[in-house]
Amino acid sequence: MNKPIVVPLEKIETNTPSIKTFFMKVPLIAQQGIPGQFLMIWTFNDEIPMSLSYIDPKKELIGITVKKVGSSTEKTHLIPEGSLIGVRGPYGNGFKIAGSRILVVGGGVGMACLFPLILQLIEAQKSVTVLIGALTKNELLFQNSLQEYTSLENFRLSIATDDGSMGFHGLVTELMDKTLRKKTFDQIYACGPEPMLKTAFNIAESKNIAFQASLERYMKCGIGLCGSCCINEQIVCTDGPIFESKVLRTMNEFGHSKRDPSGRLIPITD
Ligand SMILES: Cc1cc2nc3c(=O)[nH]c(=O)nc-3n(C[C@H](O)[C@H](O)[C@H](O)COP(=O)(O)OP(=O)(O)OC[C@H]3O[C@@H](n4cnc5c(N)ncnc54)[C@H](O)[C@@H]3O)c2cc1C
Ligand code: FES
Repeated sequence: MNKPIVVPLEKIETNTPSIKTFFMKVPLIAQQGIPGQFLMIWTFNDEIPMSLSYIDPKKELIGITVKKVGSSTEKTHLIPEGSLIGVRGPYGNGFKIAGSRILVVGGGVGMACLFPLILQLIEAQKSVTVLIGALTKNELLFQNSLQEYTSLENFRLSIATDDGSMGFHGLVTELMDKTLRKKTFDQIYACGPEPMLKTAFNIAESKNIAFQASLERYMKCGIGLCGSCCINEQIVCTDGPIFESKVLRTMNEFGHSKRDPSGRLIPITD
């Protein structure tokens, strides 16, 4: 669906001091969307990419989970329930369901695209271990929602905070390394800041475990026309945003450089 459709915001949830989830009724996207795909969100000013964080075909509801980082996301956070918002999509490839012993690693708002995937993996009765990382305990995303599945035999949830305010004291990739020393997995899914993803990928490679990561690049069209989202030979909005180990190995820009809004290559620093 390449033309934005304008819908009211059904419900807004505050997840953390800097993150909110916005729910909309869009039957077509709720029926066709898969975890890992994204939407272009139009707030009548700018249009920005946001992952699907909630997909409910029965209720015909979808959600996006937005971290306040700059002008568009700040404006989005100010929109009240009932207001109109434009959406187009779903775009991109989405995660491939693979493996049976699964490790999911999410850093910060990276948990947004992983949340519907985790629900799908639980539904498929896979053995799932989830590691959620954040700077501090108040910024842990979807920890409460996932806590309710910890009574399931095949589900484990562990937390890492950079400041040690909850769970493992350190980076989520350090917790990942520790977890992999104790348990074996045959598939890893990850989303978060790119330096975190690069470290997680290197760990997965050292253990020979299949890896899928959701990557971000500056997006304008979202449909493969403008070239603003390229990473090496890949167009993130159409070839991705989910990339598997085989392709990640070929990307020397992964973890090192990205394009600014004018298309210039700049180093990745955060
Ligand atoms: C496929 C994809 C899925 C995403 N999913 C989510 C999500 O689920 N939740 C979430 O909070 N964020 C997500 N993002 C990131 C989100 O799009 C940016 O945080 C947002 O566009 C920032 O806009 P801003 O004006 O508030 O910030 P700015 O101050 O303009 O920029 C802050 C940061 O966001 C980046 N950014 C700005 N505009 C864009 C753009 N058009 N495309 C990509 N990056 C941009 C900038 O390069 C910079 O690194 C996703 C990005 C992509 C590419
Ligand atoms: S955003 Fe235009 S080609 Fe990907």
